[in-house]
Amino acid sequence: MSHPSFFIKTFGCQMNSRDSEIMAQTLSEKGYVESMDMETSDLVILNTCSIRAKAEQKVMSLLGMLRNVRKRRPSMRICVAGCVAEQEGARLMERMPHVDLVLGTQNIYQLTTLLDNLDQAGRIATGLSPDYEIPAYIPVIPTFSDEQDRPFRKFLTIMQGCNNFCSYCVVPHTRGREISRKVKDIVAEAQALVDAGIKEITLLGQNVNSFGQTNSVTEDGSPYPFSLLLREISQLNGLKRLRFTTSNPKDLSDDLMRCFSEIDILCHHFHLPVQSGSNAVLKQMNRKYTRELYLDRVAGLRSYCSDISLSTDMIVGFPGETDEDFEQTMDLLETVRFHGSFSFKYSDRPGTRSSAFDNKVEEDLKTRRLQRFQKRQDEISLEHNQSFIDQTVEIMIEKISDEGLAGRTGSNHIVHVNDSNLPPCHPGDLLQVKIDHGGPHSLRGKLPAE
Ligand code: SAH
Ligand code: SF4
Ligand code: F3S
Repeated sequence: MSHPSFFIKTFGCQMNSRDSEIMAQTLSEKGYVESMDMETSDLVILNTCSIRAKAEQKVMSLLGMLRNVRKRRPSMRICVAGCVAEQEGARLMERMPHVDLVLGTQNIYQLTTLLDNLDQAGRIATGLSPDYEIPAYIPVIPTFSDEQDRPFRKFLTIMQGCNNFCSYCVVPHTRGREISRKVKDIVAEAQALVDAGIKEITLLGQNVNSFGQTNSVTEDGSPYPFSLLLREISQLNGLKRLRFTTSNPKDLSDDLMRCFSEIDILCHHFHLPVQSGSNAVLKQMNRKYTRELYLDRVAGLRSYCSDISLSTDMIVGFPGETDEDFEQTMDLLETVRFHGSFSFKYSDRPGTRSSAFDNKVEEDLKTRRLQRFQKRQDEISLEHNQSFIDQTVEIMIEKISDEGLAGRTGSNHIVHVNDSNLPPCHPGDLLQVKIDHGGPHSLRGKLPAE
């Protein structure tokens, strides 16, 4: 087997996507070749998510399916990485003996070394250290013969883990304590991306607002807040757009809000998860802020950046959530009028405090509440989308086809442009578009008249 093939299936959040890229790069450096077909690959990696029970079930059913593939092709190797691997460790190997390697969230850089030693002990590499340091690892962007295939945006992990311990959340258990990377490593990575032609960077962390607060990120130990990092990266020549995700409202500083009025390339979009509109529920969730503080932050953001688009995460049916609490959530939706949201039914997760609460909400009621929330959010999103009509917006082009192109506004709205007279362009270019239609999920427009 001179060039074994590998296939990575990624579940979960952007941090997992970035981790999958890192694993792919380490494998390529060792002579592996990426394949698009799971069943015929020599190595299959499932990079998993454990945020809700459903996410974990998806992994388990895929692993069940792979058991049969493995019977037909015993030489295939199966690795489970990511948050389910970290959470389950040895238990996973017991339940799924056809798994060859369980790779925790702080172990991804050891992937190829562990694969070389699969016959020896060490097939379970998990465990979280409070002193973990995310290694400096410069991304290599492959060259593409067709300009249309060239990547133009990338994620950059600036910190990992979380210290907030929201009562429902597995992340502190699967990603460990909050650790920020060194500023010089982050800037070097951003510079490498820009040098390779990347036009948009999204900085990633579970709570970017507390960047640099739990460990030192500078050589001399001087404080270095997230807002300063944004300013520094925004200076890179050739970078056209900067985004970040995600933030806990309790740590959203005035200084960070001000960045939206001062940094040109910072996109006018803020994802600010609220989780509930009820103070009683927020308290049980251990979110450490009130709806009043949340609304104050929203007002602050809008005062610095009047056209900022806001999105959120919402959990319905948290243990003990009454009809009254849920009405508060609906009321918050009406008050803020989010451009979009990700909403979920509460799900019990292993090791979390809320999984032991004895006042669980019935599944049917959770479903009804979720449907009501999502229906109203869809209406509000549509109204927002329609309010773009007749405005000229700047999009970053994502895909080009014979019929036209699709791109995204800074506010994170998808725009389709159907025009046979397009100028020569590539993904990653910016283009002015006049919007003539706002649909439920996207906008449509044309090139503005000369
Ligand atoms: N760090 C981010 C959240 C990451 S998890 C933050 O603090 O906002 C992404 C989203 O999944 C959360 O915002 C929450 O809405 C949802 N989520 C997390 N745990 C959940 C659970 N046990 N049940 C349902 N939804 C959950
Ligand atoms: Fe989970 Fe809360 Fe941390 Fe977000 S802030 S990752 S919801 S514990
Ligand atoms: Fe899922 Fe882990 Fe991300 S639980 S959401 S993959 S941090």
